[in-house]
Formats: sequence, structure tokens, C-alpha cells
Amino acid sequence: MKRSLMIRIGLGSITFLFLALPCLVRAGQNDTPLDAKVKAFLEKARFGWGDMNVPESDGKRLYDLVLKNNYKKALEIGTSTGHSGIWIAWALSKTGGKLITIEIDERRHREAAANFKEAGLGDYIDARLGDAHQVVLDLKGPFDFVFSDADKEWYTNYAKAVIPKLEPGGCLASHNISGRRGSFGRGYGGGNGDYYEYMMSLPEFETSMAAPGSSLAVSFKKKG
Ligand SMILES: C[S@@+](CC[C@H](N)C(=O)[O-])C[C@H]1O[C@@H](n2cnc3c(N)ncnc32)[C@H](O)[C@@H]1O
Repeated sequence: MKRSLMIRIGLGSITFLFLALPCLVRAGQNDTPLDAKVKAFLEKARFGWGDMNVPESDGKRLYDLVLKNNYKKALEIGTSTGHSGIWIAWALSKTGGKLITIEIDERRHREAAANFKEAGLGDYIDARLGDAHQVVLDLKGPFDFVFSDADKEWYTNYAKAVIPKLEPGGCLASHNISGRRGSFGRGYGGGNGDYYEYMMSLPEFETSMAAPGSSLAVSFKKKG
């Protein structure tokens, strides 16, 4: 293929992405005042997330998971400045649920709390500052939705701590999973291969990648 044609296709794809992405949070006719407030916040914040926050596509996936399964008792491990928490809590505002989210870094925790308030979701979120290694053990539960997105090498330990507190039908979702052993290497993704294999080995769970190309793994606890 000619070089100029390839450049034009590349530029076209980038333009398409910039035009298509806003559709995820575009104002709709049936929006509640809270929907409008959350969408306005997400729109304003779109290009400002810079603390290892999930991409918008995964935020939308988390939102869909909670809403579709009518989850109400959610836990997030690794708040950062609150991008994923906003998507999860937005869905919980519709199911009548609440989110507990844990962050170890004080500056991120403070920024997340301010973002939750500005997005209008403060009442749906209990943001805790602390080391999730301990906080997760101390939390009683039960939970029906858990999103694991903190220190990757601890994922299996988090899973072992939350599984007994996860209701049948509940979901443990985890971010930055390759789905293939070793694909991330042992640096940033350290331990993820083991985590995914561990979840696949549990007969009481159905584990898969949320979508092709996504790094979100979902493990549903079987009902029976
Ligand atoms: C990938 S970021 C989370 C991004 C966030 N879920 C979002 O999408 O907005 C991981 C966060 O986990 C936090 N973290 C790492 N180890 C932790 C621990 N032991 N306890 C609580 N938070 C931790 C980090 O400080 C960081 O802010």
C-alpha cells in the first residue's frame, strides 16, 4: 500500500476516534438531572485523567456490568483520582447501591473525593484512605461487585480475601490483565498471569476477558 494512503487511513482513524468517543457520554433525552451532571463532569474531565485511570471504554464497561446485573454492594480497590469510581457509582445511582473505594495515596484520595462531589456522586461513594491489603481484610461485606485495580502483584491475595464476601451471581472484575500468561512480562503486569490462571482454576467462577482488546477480566461467581 502506498505510504500516503496509509498516512491518510491513519489520520482518518484518529479523527474517527475523537469524533466517536464523545458518544459514550453524550446528553440524552431521558437524562435525569444527575445523569446530566455526571456527563458534564466526564466531558470536562475527559482529557485530564493522568493518574493511571482506566480509559473511558473500560469505565463504560464497568458501568454496564453494574447496571445489567443490578449490582448494589460494590467495592473498588485502587481509587486513584476517581475515574472508574465515577462510572461504577453512576450505575449504582440507578440500581440503588453504594460503592466503597480504597486508595493509599493521600493526594489521589483527596482529588477523588473532590471529583466525586463535583460529579454529583458523593452520596453514593464511601472513599477510604488506607492500605487495601489491610482494609480489604477488615471489610465485612457482603459485596456483589468488586473492581480490583491497585497493586497488581497483590491481585491474587485480594481475590482470596474478597471471594468469601462475594455473593453468588456477583462479579470480581480486574484491570490490566493480559489474559495470556507472560504477555505483560514481570514488570508492570507482574503477577497478573498468575492471577488470571488462579481465577480460571476456581470451579465456582466463570472467568473471561470482558471484551477483545480490553484488559478487563471478569469472574462471575456461579449461583448454584
Ligand atoms: C491504576 S490506579 C487506579 C485507577 C482507578 N481505578 C481509576 O480508574 O480511576 C491504582 C491505584 O491503586 C493505588 N494503590 C496501590 N497500592 C495500594 C494499596 N496497597 N492500597 C490502596 N491503594 C493502593 C495507587 O496509589 C493508585 O492510585
